Amino acid sequence: MSEKSSSVKPDLIGLTSSTLVKLGRFALRHIGSPNNSYANKIMLNWKRNDICTETKERGKDYTEKKYPTLVEKTMKGHNRVLRYKIPTGLNPQKVMKSLYDIEFDLKSEVLFKRLENDPKAHFSLTILSGKLLDIINYSNEASITPDGKELSKGLWIPLGWSRRGLEQLNLASSNSPHLMIGGATGGGKSILGRLILATLHIRYNRDECRLWLCDLKHGNGTARLGKNPLLVDRTISDPGEAEQMMDDLSVIIGERYNLFKEYECDDLQAFNEEYPRLRLPRIVVYVDELTKLEGKEFSRAREKMTKVTGESRGAGVHVIISCHRPTANLVSGTMKNNISAVVAFNCNAVSARVLLGEDPEDYKAASMIDPDIEGRALFKFKDEVLLQVPYIDNHAIKSLMANYQKAIIKGKVEPVIQAVISTRVVEHSVGHSLGHTIEHPQ
Ligand SMILES: Nc1ncnc2c1ncn2[C@@H]1O[C@H](COP(=O)(O)OP(=O)(O)OP(=O)(O)O)[C@@H](O)[C@H]1O
Ligand SMILES: [Mg+2]
Repeated sequence: MSEKSSSVKPDLIGLTSSTLVKLGRFALRHIGSPNNSYANKIMLNWKRNDICTETKERGKDYTEKKYPTLVEKTMKGHNRVLRYKIPTGLNPQKVMKSLYDIEFDLKSEVLFKRLENDPKAHFSLTILSGKLLDIINYSNEASITPDGKELSKGLWIPLGWSRRGLEQLNLASSNSPHLMIGGATGGGKSILGRLILATLHIRYNRDECRLWLCDLKHGNGTARLGKNPLLVDRTISDPGEAEQMMDDLSVIIGERYNLFKEYECDDLQAFNEEYPRLRLPRIVVYVDELTKLEGKEFSRAREKMTKVTGESRGAGVHVIISCHRPTANLVSGTMKNNISAVVAFNCNAVSARVLLGEDPEDYKAASMIDPDIEGRALFKFKDEVLLQVPYIDNHAIKSLMANYQKAIIKGKVEPVIQAVISTRVVEHSVGHSLGHTIEHPQ
């Protein structure tokens, strides 16, 4: 053997075991092996990180390790679903914490779901392998709505496409009454805000939904909706007016709860179902740029906003907050607890912690958001999934809103921009009052 070849021969002696493990992981990730199924790779991860229970039997000098066992493999669309049983004594949290590593190993998004009611399996991992488009046009997105019954029962807003399909959020549902949108400047927060406001116009009428716009970036975020959009009851653009707006909302919330008490109903949903003739609309408060409420002079406005998010769900008041630099000071722990649904665009580590959670396993997921793809975000609600928000440009939104307002004035709603939208005819006149009054029953 020549000198040269012996000098390049790998010399394993002298390498620490952790370096060997790293080398093994590197080889697995970059070379892979055709026989290495997803399930095998997942098991390798668990073995590497000791995601198991350990029992040492008496008289034996080794510990027995029990890992989650695969009980079923299925396909759901493009995605693989693997169901597992967990050995007694292993904390499911420990399994969940390994997800980020698994995603890294598989180079795919993986969703974890606990299967409380399934006697055969304890949790499932869904490996999302569908394609996520880099840009999505609004017209594609708008053509899909929840079915008529679902639509009228809830208050559905579209967020974008994930690998499992269109992600929409029902603000009327008891566990997702508010939404937080965060991320660095230019990420796409205002575009998503406009998409939500336009869609609410298309899907709902004034009997069902009213908008309060708190557009603190000089009123620029929502200006493209046109003049006097039909659902809008109130707009402010001066941060100094935010406190008053929150006070007015608190009054409405208080009045509504008094009314529900009088009529022996728990909340707006029950009241509207029992007394359809007295039906009250839901109110969506959209705050574009919470960062404008930074500083001591706005601390009361912030406190009041937190209070509104805490007590408004049952009264049918929903808050959508957009914020480019969410800090712990701006988004208090209480507010965060009140807002369970989050859309995080590309953001730094500090923002990611505020938006997605203090646990490293939560905010680490933010690193999956590709900063070079506009409109790419992470949607966190019951799980965390990558999202592409559809793009709606100024021209499209203006014509969409103009067509819509025109159709309303004529007394009929026509499908706009190729979209098939099931919207009921709105019988209201276009005029609207400032503020909101509740008609008390006689
Ligand atoms: N979903 C999207 N698809 C494609 N491009 C997008 C998308 N969203 C935003 N963009 C591009 O990024 C630009 C900035 O978007 P947007 O104004 O929504 O950012 P922002 O997060 O509100 O920023 P800021 O914090 O400065 O207000 C848009 O003008 C558009 O060019
Ligand atoms: Mg913006």
